[in-house]
Amino acid sequence: MKGPRRIVATVDLGRTYHLEGEEVSALRGVNLTVHPGRFIAVVGRSGSGKTTLLNLIAGLDRPTSGQILFEERDLVDMSEAELTELRRHKIGFVFQSFGLLPLLSAYENVELPLRISGVAARERDERAREALAMVGLSHRANHRPYELSGGEQQRVAISRAIVTRPVLLLADEPTGELDSVNARAIFGLFEEMVHTQSISVVAATHDSTLLEMANQVLELRDGTIAEKAEVGLRYRS
Ligand SMILES: Nc1ncnc2c1ncn2[C@@H]1O[C@H](COP(=O)(O)OP(=O)(O)OP(=O)(O)O)[C@@H](O)[C@H]1O
Ligand SMILES: [Mg+2]
Repeated sequence: MKGPRRIVATVDLGRTYHLEGEEVSALRGVNLTVHPGRFIAVVGRSGSGKTTLLNLIAGLDRPTSGQILFEERDLVDMSEAELTELRRHKIGFVFQSFGLLPLLSAYENVELPLRISGVAARERDERAREALAMVGLSHRANHRPYELSGGEQQRVAISRAIVTRPVLLLADEPTGELDSVNARAIFGLFEEMVHTQSISVVAATHDSTLLEMANQVLELRDGTIAEKAEVGLRYRS
């Protein structure tokens, strides 16, 4: 019998970097499956391969071995143009450093991916406002990034990442530059989005106090999955 639908499945995923004659195996044989409506936290020491894994799933980097099946299609077989399309429509990405454009307002930052995708003006406006409301920032729409707190900036970045209605949100240490209150708010937002929107979240973090909010915690150690703990303290599935 066929199992439940998978958004992403990595199969024996490996990535080796060659740098000045030295080989670094950042990932060695990682098998990870992301089902719809899941919130997966990826933990592990610095250098354990978290960023490498997220970048590979986003199609920003190419594996050395193994497969990355995105909705059952192997990213390895996709052209750069197809990967760009995938990132535009199916995947949202959030970084530690927010990455907002400083001269654009919160609203304009959120609207930009829709402009790039050629969405018509009226729908752009509706969706940008909806995405800002989702992160609780409708009242900050006209603020530029420097007129926002760090936590607010990251919420704008999340809003921008979900405005295209992706099926998967990847977040690389999204709370790394935030205090504990704002960090919890961001993870709380992920948790809420997973349950109210049909989206899955994979977030790398160093902060163990946030893990109870995820359904699953995956620990990377030297490029392999050391532990897969089902958490879901609040939402068991
Ligand atoms: N472009 C690169 N060229 C060579 N080696 C790399 C490259 N990117 C990453 N590495 C190496 O691969 C390993 C995994 O790096 P990665 O950035 O995935 O770790 P990480 O878990 O995200 O660490 P951190 O918690 O510090 O962000 C490290 O040993 C790193 O030095
Ligand atoms: Mg990293």
